Amino acid sequence: MNLKNRNFVTLLDFTPEEINYLIKLSSKLKSEKYEGIEHKVLTDKNVVLLFQKDSTRTRCAFEVGAQDLGMSTTYLGPNGSQMNTKESVKDTARVLGRMYDGIEFRGYKQADVEALAEHSGVPVWNGLTDIYHPTQILADFLTIKEIFGELKGIKFTYVGDARNNMGNSLMIGAAKLGIHFTGVAPKALWPEQSLIDTCNEIAKETGATLNFTEDKMEGTKDVDVIYTDVWVSMGEPKEVWQDRIEQLIDYQVDKELMDNAHKNAIFMHCLPAFHGKDTNVGKEIAETFGEQFPKLKNGEMEVTNEVFESKQSVVFQEAENRMHTIKAVMLATLKDHYE
Ligand code: CP
Ligand code: NVA
Repeated sequence: MNLKNRNFVTLLDFTPEEINYLIKLSSKLKSEKYEGIEHKVLTDKNVVLLFQKDSTRTRCAFEVGAQDLGMSTTYLGPNGSQMNTKESVKDTARVLGRMYDGIEFRGYKQADVEALAEHSGVPVWNGLTDIYHPTQILADFLTIKEIFGELKGIKFTYVGDARNNMGNSLMIGAAKLGIHFTGVAPKALWPEQSLIDTCNEIAKETGATLNFTEDKMEGTKDVDVIYTDVWVSMGEPKEVWQDRIEQLIDYQVDKELMDNAHKNAIFMHCLPAFHGKDTNVGKEIAETFGEQFPKLKNGEMEVTNEVFESKQSVVFQEAENRMHTIKAVMLATLKDHYE
């Protein structure tokens, strides 16, 4: 397997074998780190991290991952660089490609990460756009593999905004790796039909199945994994909250839903999660909508605190795995072989 010089902008570009390879490599790098075995094999390389949106996990995963591989990083945040204000993405790509060996991009448009990939001449990694979040899927699947020992045949249900970057990317990843994917959401929040069609074509080859339902009990019956994400994603205007709450209030992941799944089922969330009033947004939503929607009074939105803090919740293992998987993506695309 050689992924050197490849871009990582969507999982659609990768074969099941390549995705499985990245997950295996992540696992190896994780074991090495636990055993104190250094893997500083890219000491001559420098990478740049472009963030138009906020981040904790993704930024830290790239920084720690790069450092563990011996690379230096430069962080460019939403303000402070010339990109977008005085310089196009295409020109930025051609400048950064002459100084850096790899570029991470988190932002709004998928077209921007693709333009960086097209014009920089170095590997470009998608750290989240409005429509995809492919590095997150590697971490999620590594976590499932660690817990269940395999990915093929796993019954996986995503509950919530199924047409956001997480819904889209999880569906693609599931189709690629033979996972039985169910999206539970009101019909208006199902992924675009063209993407579902593409994934169904992939699923024919891998044994995956894809289903969508508005019925949360039907969609979570006996499944192995219940996954959810925020109801309103970064970059969406504040005005969408009212409608989105009305659409998703009945889709909050609570104990009843977890009890409907298999007895060994796990709860997953890419994080950050709203499960209490200890965040500014959680507090604001509770104050603004708590009277109208009593379920929101405690700042719990997509998941109750009870489920988030339960033994079934693997969200922090999943968060840690962001680092091991992102490190694997950088290593695989910057180096020929890693034994
Ligand atoms: N899950 C995730 O991408 O987290 P951050 O927004 O903190 O990077
Ligand atoms: N759908 C979320 C994912 C965050 C990791 C967002 O885009 O805000």
